[in-house]
Amino acid sequence: MGSIAKLAKRALETEAPVMVKIQELLRGATDVMSLAQGVVYWQPPEAALSKVEQIIREPSVSKYGADDGLPELREALLQKLHKENKLTKSSVMVTAGANQAFVNIVLTLCDAGDSVVMFAPYYFNSYMSFQMTGVTDILVGASNPKTLHPDVDWLEKVLKGNGPIPKLVTVVNPGNPSGAFIPKPMLQKISDLCKTAGAWLLVDNTYEYFMYDGMEHYCLEDDHIVNLFSFSKAYGMMGWRVGYIAYPSEVDGFHAQLLKVQDNIPICASIIGQYLALYSLEAGPEWIRERVKDLVKNRELLVEAMSPLGEDNVRGGEGAIYLWAKLPDNCSDDYEVVRWLANKHGVAVIPGSASGGPGFLRVSFGGLKEADTRLAAERLRQGLQQLVTDGMVQ
Ligand SMILES: Cc1ncc(COP(=O)(O)O)c(C=O)c1O
Repeated sequence: MGSIAKLAKRALETEAPVMVKIQELLRGATDVMSLAQGVVYWQPPEAALSKVEQIIREPSVSKYGADDGLPELREALLQKLHKENKLTKSSVMVTAGANQAFVNIVLTLCDAGDSVVMFAPYYFNSYMSFQMTGVTDILVGASNPKTLHPDVDWLEKVLKGNGPIPKLVTVVNPGNPSGAFIPKPMLQKISDLCKTAGAWLLVDNTYEYFMYDGMEHYCLEDDHIVNLFSFSKAYGMMGWRVGYIAYPSEVDGFHAQLLKVQDNIPICASIIGQYLALYSLEAGPEWIRERVKDLVKNRELLVEAMSPLGEDNVRGGEGAIYLWAKLPDNCSDDYEVVRWLANKHGVAVIPGSASGGPGFLRVSFGGLKEADTRLAAERLRQGLQQLVTDGMVQ
């Protein structure tokens, strides 16, 4: 049927989604526990779900809403941004999740052919968003192998070099897949370099509440900075598809151009989802932190499970819901390791290659309750032990 030549090069040349690849890889494997997908195990706040139940028949829920988002949700978000994130000069647009927010920003700020900067290991969907919008000159900087922090010296050379200045630099803080948290002075330095060079800085704060060991999240604000947020993990709202963009109010034309993109992709985020987001905000950050603090035990169980790889080879986990682990040197085919762990040991993880980190694995500690994490951790420990001592025996 037809020819592949009729399909867009932009799409053809974009990576395949890693979760789809994993599903294919796991086809036929039975009884697999997942430490793969970046999800949390909890449901949205009960009171918020009950309120939503009561309004589903209201006609406004089934109509289109304002492109920017429900006015009452935007107002609540502006207050939240002000109070919690100390963002006082930002405007807000509600999107169908942070992924759509990312695409909106790329389409608003970048032209096909522009160069952009990411740091490996990077969030795979961001990489795909650049590729599929024609922004194919993706400069990938390294991260420090110990801290997993971006290589700022490299960035400085790129931004002060003779080549074309990248249009946009992006980081995830705390990181996916690294689980590393960029300290404020470092992000400030990145921001200053971007500002001087005339580049945008896009910060994905999807995991703003997922902070451990007393560390506190922060945001930066300036006319060259865009911040993204998500309701997905914080409030267990993955399927409701609500995120938002905090963008600089003072930049001429920003809103007008962003609105064009928004109007042509979702028109507006799902209205019922936006109501659930509004009601969930009433539960507030304490509700989220109550749940996040339980993840510390999951993280501990999984760090222990990965000890066969050697202590120095398991990093991250300062924030977000991820650990980033280096496989033994003779295991460069991380997809094969993932397939083997699923088939032989009944546990699924993500191959580092999907994030520009071949020879690594990403392990998520958010998707299972403690009892299940314990079971999955035991499978992972046995698998990694066998991998290290005997290799991928069938
Ligand atoms: C860094 C990061 N950004 C964005 C997303 C997607 O979030 P949403 O569900 O709000 O689109 C994820 C989900 O895993 C993520 O890890």
